[in-house]
Formats: sequence, C-alpha cells, structure tokens
Amino acid sequence: MPAVESKFDPKDMIFRHLGPTGLKVSVLSLGGWLTYGGTQKGSIVKDCLETAWNHGINFFDTAEVYANGQCEIEMGEALKELAWPRDEYVLSTKVFFGTGRKEPNTRGLSKKHVVEGLKSCLQRLQQPYVDIVLAHRPDVGTPMKEIVEGFTQCIRNLNLAYYWGTSEWSATQIMEATQIAEKYNLIAPIAEQPQYNAFHRERFEVEYAPLFEQFQYGTTIWSPLASGLLTGKYNDGIPEDSRFANNKAFFEGTVKSLQTEEGKAKIAKVRKLTEIAEKLGGNCAQLALAWCVKNENVSTVILGATKTAQIDDNVASLKMVPKLTPEIMEEIEKILDNKPKAPADFGRKRTKYPRRMQPKL
Ligand SMILES: NC(=O)c1ccc[n+]([C@@H]2O[C@H](COP(=O)([O-])OP(=O)(O)OC[C@H]3O[C@@H](n4cnc5c(N)ncnc54)[C@H](OP(=O)(O)O)[C@@H]3O)[C@@H](O)[C@H]2O)c1
Repeated sequence: MPAVESKFDPKDMIFRHLGPTGLKVSVLSLGGWLTYGGTQKGSIVKDCLETAWNHGINFFDTAEVYANGQCEIEMGEALKELAWPRDEYVLSTKVFFGTGRKEPNTRGLSKKHVVEGLKSCLQRLQQPYVDIVLAHRPDVGTPMKEIVEGFTQCIRNLNLAYYWGTSEWSATQIMEATQIAEKYNLIAPIAEQPQYNAFHRERFEVEYAPLFEQFQYGTTIWSPLASGLLTGKYNDGIPEDSRFANNKAFFEGTVKSLQTEEGKAKIAKVRKLTEIAEKLGGNCAQLALAWCVKNENVSTVILGATKTAQIDDNVASLKMVPKLTPEIMEEIEKILDNKPKAPADFGRKRTKYPRRMQPKL
C-alpha cells in the first residue's frame, strides 16, 4: 500500500486524551446541531469543516436526530469531498432520538435501535465506522444490561465504532453502565457529552466529579457559548440571522426568559465578562470558551458555527487560556456568582490517584 500523505497540520492546537482512552482529540472541536443540514446547507458545511481542520481541529460531532438525519448527510458529503485520511480525524455520532419517524423501534436504546440506528447513521455519513458512538440520552425503558450489550456489539462484533459514550446521563446511570460492563465483560462507556458553560455548571462540576476521579471519564461539552448568549450578540435584542431568530419556536422560551429579572442579570454578567475579555485583548466569546478549556475535566469543547469567521474567532480563544490567571479566574467567579457547592468531604478528599490507578501495595 502506498504511504498516506498527511493532510493534517496541528498548528497551535491543544490535544487531550478522551477520558481514559489513548485517543487524542483537539481541545476545540466542531459539531452540527441546528446548523449543518439545518440552517446551513451545501458548500458552507464543507467550508466550516475545512476552516476548523486548518486550525488543527481533528474532532467532529453529529447525531442521527440533527435535522432528522440531514446533518449527517451534509457532514458526510463534506467529509467525502475533503478526502482527509480517515486516520487523521475523529468522528462521533449519537443515537437515541431517531430521525423523526413514528415507529417506536426507530428510537431509544434497545439493542435493535442502537445497532440499526448506528448502521443508518453510517449510511448517511458514507463512513464505514465512527470513532465514538454516544447514547444521546438515557433510556429508562430499556434494561441497562441490554444498552451496554448493544454498544458492545457495535464495537466488538460489528466494528462500527471504537468507543461509546453517554450524553446527559446522570452520574448514577454512568456508574451503573460501567459496573455492568465490568461484571459481564462488556465494554464500558468512556465519555459524557454534557452541556457545560459559564451559566450551566452544577452537574458537570459537582455530580460528575466522582466520575472524573474514579474513571477519568472524558467529556465532549456542548453549548459552550450558551447558544450564543455568551458572545454578547443578544445583549440588545435578537439580531436577524442569529440562532434565536432562525429557530424561533425552539428558542421561544429562552428569548422570553431574557426579559425576566434572571435573564437581565445574565446579560449584565455578559457585559461585565466582556470588559474582562477586552482587558485581556479578546472578546466575550473567546473568554467564555477559554474558561471551558481551562477546566481539565473538559476533554474537548464542541464549537457550533454558522460562518467560517466564527470558527476563526472562536479558535483565537486558545490564546486567552494562559491569560486566565488565578486572579482573573477569581474576578470571573465573582461576576458569575454561580459556583456550585460541592458536598462536604470532611477532610477526607482523595487526590493523589484516581481509584483505578492506585499502585498495588
Ligand atoms: N449532546 C447533546 O445533547 C447536544 C446538545 C446541543 C449541542 N450538542 C453538540 O455541541 C455542539 C455545539 O453546541 P452549540 O452549537 O449549542 O454551541 P454554542 O457555542 O453554544 O453555540 C453556537 C452558535 O452560536 C453562534 N456563534 C458561535 N460563535 C460565534 C461568534 N464567535 N460570534 C457570534 N456568534 C457565534 C452561532 O449561531 P448563529 O450564528 O446562528 O447565531 C453558533 O451556531 C453542537 O453542534 C452539537 O454537536 C450536543
């Protein structure tokens, strides 16, 4: 076989292991929710993926439900045209919500839908496998053992993925899946895809803390800009051609909430964060993204972008990370005033080794 010509240039990108695996993902990645196959179709999708790649981004995320499968079709077409060596990029998709069909087995996490859903994802993506398949939500109606068996089958028997993960699962559900995998020699999930941003912290910082400590569980975090709120673009109303304007029905509640005292307080915080960002030579979006990157339990921050310029702008956040000194972080903390309180540890906190990595005595 002829040697593959490398097309990837990491530039100044930071790479992190995805949880306990040997897989390395760029700390900034790109996803297609509401954008690719939704508001953005055709050449713009390819342009966005290519712009991300040219900045050293090697990880791309989609899901069966995004634009009812159209996101996978658009991203798959773009990936085919870009023709990057398959071993130079990492791709994830998610099953659970289906693609809008009514038949009850075309969604959920039954073994049938996990396997058949993923097979359909791959057809739309025109890919033989994804690197990571995620359970887009927990399925309380399917026994956990069946869920873990379904994902194990995709990986071990069918070679449709290398790893599996969870999205918006509780820590208890992730622990249960992990324990079942250990008990029955099945494959455990390796990463969670949770919402995490400066306005949405509790679950990530408190509930998941034991997962990070015990399993080195990875995270591919979503809505790092709270759908754009943390860019400051909604400070003075809803601009035309913005996410809140282009997806009116979906964001109706969010837009209304901006008129409440709580909503106004959020905008006031964005204004104050913008002042810090400008003092550091950047903008509020960059500060908000750098704040996420600064958290070492974040494996990768999934960006969303409707325009290539947004990707350029957002990747510049990496320059801001070293500027987030303890003093600046404290200033940000005071503005946010929303640090979740961890349960008391009574002075018994285990810090040195994650439980699984303790040396044998
Ligand atoms: N697992 C899950 O349940 C789940 C849920 C949601 C998302 N996700 C994943 O996470 C990814 C990212 O989430 P997200 O799209 O909500 O991220 P986000 O960063 O919170 O929002 C991205 C949107 O903000 C606007 N924007 C981004 N950068 C900007 C900039 N520099 N200046 C002005 N506007 C800017 C763009 O929308 P406009 O230009 O339209 O205003 C963009 O589409 C998704 O694509 C998806 O892959 C997963």
